[in-house]
Amino acid sequence: MLYAIAAADTENGLGFQGQLQFHIREDLRRFAALTRGHAVIYGRKTLETFPGGKPLKDRENIILSRTPGYEVEGATVVSSVKEALRVCGDDAFVIGGGSIYRQFWSLIDVLYLTRVHIAAPHDVTLPDINKDFVLTETSEILKDEKSGLTYQFLTYTRKAG
Ligand SMILES: NC(=O)c1ccc[n+]([C@@H]2O[C@H](COP(=O)([O-])OP(=O)(O)OC[C@H]3O[C@@H](n4cnc5c(N)ncnc54)[C@H](OP(=O)(O)O)[C@@H]3O)[C@@H](O)[C@H]2O)c1
Repeated sequence: MLYAIAAADTENGLGFQGQLQFHIREDLRRFAALTRGHAVIYGRKTLETFPGGKPLKDRENIILSRTPGYEVEGATVVSSVKEALRVCGDDAFVIGGGSIYRQFWSLIDVLYLTRVHIAAPHDVTLPDINKDFVLTETSEILKDEKSGLTYQFLTYTRKAG
């Protein structure tokens, strides 16, 4: 199965000026729990948003870049979607950013979305989810005490056919 995991605002916004728009501790915890032990596929710009610009621990990191000679310690760098799919094995997670979700979109079986109940400034977005996926699980409305933001964990499954 190919999964995607993302946090988006009410306008499908994913990030602004190269960073996430919000940090919700419980969401980061869930992200780690779901992806741990699996391959994670992401773009070179998303790597730059991680602490110290380093790959994620306890996961096989597959980073897309077209930059010749680009290497990252502790990760596999690939230069196309096809190559990423060849090396990722079963049960891989597409974890962003915007350009990567779009290129893998038609191949994603299940999307784990954290919907944050705010319209925040953004310059990257997810495609229209409802066109391709059905909502199959919804959490209760949760609240991040630090930021005051409310959010929900939603699971979307690709529409049949
Ligand atoms: N809300 C969320 O869940 C979430 C998750 C992840 C990221 N984000 C946010 O998303 C933003 C980053 O997204 P982005 O779209 O700007 O960048 P990105 O998708 O993270 O990375 C783009 C880079 O990936 C490489 N790339 C893309 N397609 C490729 C292909 N087919 N083959 C080889 N390399 C390829 C290129 O690297 P080179 O330039 O090296 O060639 C490209 O510049 C940030 O704001 C980040 O915080 C949000």
